[in-house]
Amino acid sequence: MKLTIIGTGYVGLVTGACFAEVGHSVICVDNDAAKVQLLKSGGIPIYEPGLEELVERNVRAGRLSFTQSTAEGVEKSDIIFIAVPTPPLPDGSVDLSFIEKVAREIAAAMTSYKIVVDKSTVPVKTGEKVGETIRRYCKARVDFDVVSNPEFLREGFAVEDLMNPDRVVVGVRSQRPVAAMKEVYAPFNAPIIVTDINSAELIKHASNSFLALKISYINAISIICEATGANVQEVANGMGMDARIGRRFLDASLGFGGSCFPKDLSAFIKIAEQVGYDFRLLKEVQNINAEQMRRFVKKITDTLWVLKDKRIGVLGLAFKQNTDDVRMSPAIELCKLLLKEGAVLRVHDPKAMEKARAVLPDVTYVDDMNEVAEGCDALVIATEWECFKKLDLERARKALTHPIMFDGRNLFDPAEMEQLGFIYKSIGR
Ligand code: UGA
Repeated sequence: MKLTIIGTGYVGLVTGACFAEVGHSVICVDNDAAKVQLLKSGGIPIYEPGLEELVERNVRAGRLSFTQSTAEGVEKSDIIFIAVPTPPLPDGSVDLSFIEKVAREIAAAMTSYKIVVDKSTVPVKTGEKVGETIRRYCKARVDFDVVSNPEFLREGFAVEDLMNPDRVVVGVRSQRPVAAMKEVYAPFNAPIIVTDINSAELIKHASNSFLALKISYINAISIICEATGANVQEVANGMGMDARIGRRFLDASLGFGGSCFPKDLSAFIKIAEQVGYDFRLLKEVQNINAEQMRRFVKKITDTLWVLKDKRIGVLGLAFKQNTDDVRMSPAIELCKLLLKEGAVLRVHDPKAMEKARAVLPDVTYVDDMNEVAEGCDALVIATEWECFKKLDLERARKALTHPIMFDGRNLFDPAEMEQLGFIYKSIGR
């Protein structure tokens, strides 16, 4: 099928590459000239495992191309996916100006029937507005359908998630675009749920909020575990074996971050408020998340006492493993809080150091994770990178002034760490 994706961020670029991989002919559009140039020359603006090879292979096969022109994309495709950013506004609601602008551009370029699919995360009822906008700005007065098709990929696992979706949600106003949407997704062999547009839009916000709630729930349990000598990982394992609950997203941590959960929670609370419901449950999810960071910092100050001039090594800057994304990263927030207290930081991240430099200039960046502890008073684990599990612990213990480790991601076994001579403080254990 001939498809166009507008927006080459995490969602747009990965979606475009995966659609091409299964045989569709895909045009990716972005208004950022430098980005399009980079993509055309074989570069990738983000780090995402497997993406570079995927893009390269499909460009070479002639199934994937890049352009700055929305009109070209609209003209050459039957289905146009919108995957532009929907950033938060200061009051927590969503900035829909990029969506609105793209809807107008699509409308202006349409000369025959098109299916316009929204993939960006948007508040319920956005599809209706997109429809109204296209109708208003389409001079050719041609027919079209608006579809809501939310995305559920996780950064760091985006290609894997997109190629093997748990489900595909297709929100429609009439049956007309359903067959084409099913054809787009047929190669992915996933269950396809067809709903009305408002429900599809709500599925996305409700899912992300529920996952955030799951994390805050286990983080709250971690506090009780610490107070009673229980182990939050064992509690999570025991709970997770109940198929109704499931083990995933029950890893206690110093809190969730990233460009989705914090933003989507605020947006969903705002949406609820606008329809007259005070979503106190989700407000508490936010409170627990903020509290979790405060408790972690307190753990550090309770042990190290005054932080002024203390040298602290921090492993991890990305908001999660397998990504170079530092937006709303708990690791960056932690570094800022430690710096505010006067600590001196040596930091390392396998992929996010370049992006971190822009937001965290006053720290020492260390290329080798095993050199971070050198001369430090304590070592902190802030991101759940798998490779940190292979840290040379013997070397770290010797390099530290005193062998203290604060693990905000529960990567190591407390008993083993104690045996190795560490004062080891993790979450809920
Ligand atoms: C999230 C959702 O998981 C995706 O389904 C969704 O498509 C995406 O948002 C989106 O809306 O675009 P993402 O933000 O990429 O994906 O990352 P997650 O894997 O969900 O992690 C979010 C945060 O929660 C990270 O800071 C992570 O470290 C933290 N987390 C995750 C925990 O603290 N504990 C867990 O058990 C799981």
